[in-house]
Amino acid sequence: MTRPAPLLSDLRETPVVGRWYMVPVLRDYPYYSQVGEWPVLGPKHTDADFFSFEPEHYHVDYRFVTSRQARFMRSMCPIGYRDWVTKDNGIVTVSGAPLSDRGTPIPKGRPVLARRRCRIASYRSVLGVVAIERHERFQAAYGSPAEPIRLSDGRLLCPHRKVDLPSFEADGGGIVVCPLHGLHVKCGVSA
Ligand code: FES
Repeated sequence: MTRPAPLLSDLRETPVVGRWYMVPVLRDYPYYSQVGEWPVLGPKHTDADFFSFEPEHYHVDYRFVTSRQARFMRSMCPIGYRDWVTKDNGIVTVSGAPLSDRGTPIPKGRPVLARRRCRIASYRSVLGVVAIERHERFQAAYGSPAEPIRLSDGRLLCPHRKVDLPSFEADGGGIVVCPLHGLHVKCGVSA
C-alpha cells in the first residue's frame, strides 16, 4: 500500500531527497514548449514592478520536477550561463524563466496537489548573479537582508510574493535566498 505523503506546506525544514510529498502542480501547461504537470512554488503573480514582466505566471519548483523535466530544463539553459553560475544548469533556467506561455492563459483557480518525489533538497535563485544592478535595487526596497512575514503557525514568508521559505536551506548567517527572485531574507539565527 502507498504510504501517505506529507504536505509540502507543512514542512518547516528542507524536504528529504528521495521522499514523496504532496506538492502543488499545474497540469497540462507548457514550460517553454514542454507540456506537462509542473510543480509550482508560490502564488500566481505578475512582476511588472521590478522585473518588467507583466503576464500572470507561476514559478516551477525545481526540487520536485521529474528527472525528465530536469533534463529538459538543463537543456534550456542559455549557453553563456552553463556551468558558470551553478553546476546545475536547471537552476539557471528556473531562476530566469517563469512558468508563463504567451499563447496559453494561466488556468483559473489554484494548482492541484500531486504526489511528487523530492529530487534536490533546496536551491536558491541565481537571478541576482546574472542581473546585479536590477537585483540591488530590488533588495534595497525590502531591506538588506529583508525581514520575513511571520505567521502564527511558524511559517516565514518572503515579503515580496509571500513564498513559504522554511523548507529552503539558510546559509550560516540564517539567510535564505528566495528561489523565486533572489531576495535575501533573514529566516534564522547566525551559526
Ligand atoms: S517571492 Fe520574489 S523574491 Fe521571494
